[in-house]
Amino acid sequence: MTADGKIADLWRSPARFSSAADKAHLEKQIALVDGVLFGAGTLRAYGTTLPISNPQLLQLRKQQHQLPQPVQIVCSASAEIDPQLPFFSQPVPRWLITTTAGAKAWQGINEGIFERILVASLNLKSIDWIGAFAQLGQLGLKKLAILGGGELVASLLAVDLIDELWLTVCPLILGGAAAPTPVEGAGFSVQQAQRLELLSVERIEQEVFLHYRLQR
Ligand SMILES: NC(=O)c1ccc[n+]([C@@H]2O[C@H](COP(=O)([O-])OP(=O)(O)OC[C@H]3O[C@@H](n4cnc5c(N)ncnc54)[C@H](OP(=O)(O)O)[C@@H]3O)[C@@H](O)[C@H]2O)c1
Repeated sequence: MTADGKIADLWRSPARFSSAADKAHLEKQIALVDGVLFGAGTLRAYGTTLPISNPQLLQLRKQQHQLPQPVQIVCSASAEIDPQLPFFSQPVPRWLITTTAGAKAWQGINEGIFERILVASLNLKSIDWIGAFAQLGQLGLKKLAILGGGELVASLLAVDLIDELWLTVCPLILGGAAAPTPVEGAGFSVQQAQRLELLSVERIEQEVFLHYRLQR
């Protein structure tokens, strides 16, 4: 995020403002997990995902009997996702978490683009995250990295499904009341707010890497 707490500009452009060190840090975190989860808005903005390409990280996963790439999981209530996006040509396993209506839209046509479609509906427009995470656990995914955006992160925080938070503060200011932030949604009152414990702080050149744990 920027120094003023924005994760994209007002036009929701892809956030390509962080350094090579931040990208390497992200790749390292992705290499530690079984699955990477992101919202459809994030996929629509970037069109791609970040596969692991660092040979040392790939080797480490092999030694730990993990698949070369974590499963890339898109969440979308509507499932209105363009199958022509470059994401669908990337050499990664792809799953979709959606609602009953969303899953219907992918029946028949475009089959096989997602290896697996998980249905976990709370209602027409929301996903039942407790149910979705239970399904992911049964399918062997024990550790996930949530890559955003703010809407997805807010939903998971609301049902207490996030254990740790990494924030990289980048040296720029974007401003704009409508520009997205790490946590969107309806917001929490000060009384409801999730409290964090700061685990580490590292400065690399002009960026600050913050690592928090959610207090329970
Ligand atoms: N700086 C960074 O590190 C970073 C990281 C990620 C994203 N971003 C930026 O964030 C912006 C995209 O964020 P966004 O606000 O669009 O958020 P998002 O969470 O990526 O996507 C929102 C969409 O995902 C689906 N979704 C998310 N949570 C859901 C839930 N609880 N239940 C059902 N569906 C859910 C819905 O898809 P449907 O509409 O299809 O139903 C929703 O419209 C882009 O500008 C991107 O560049 C920045």
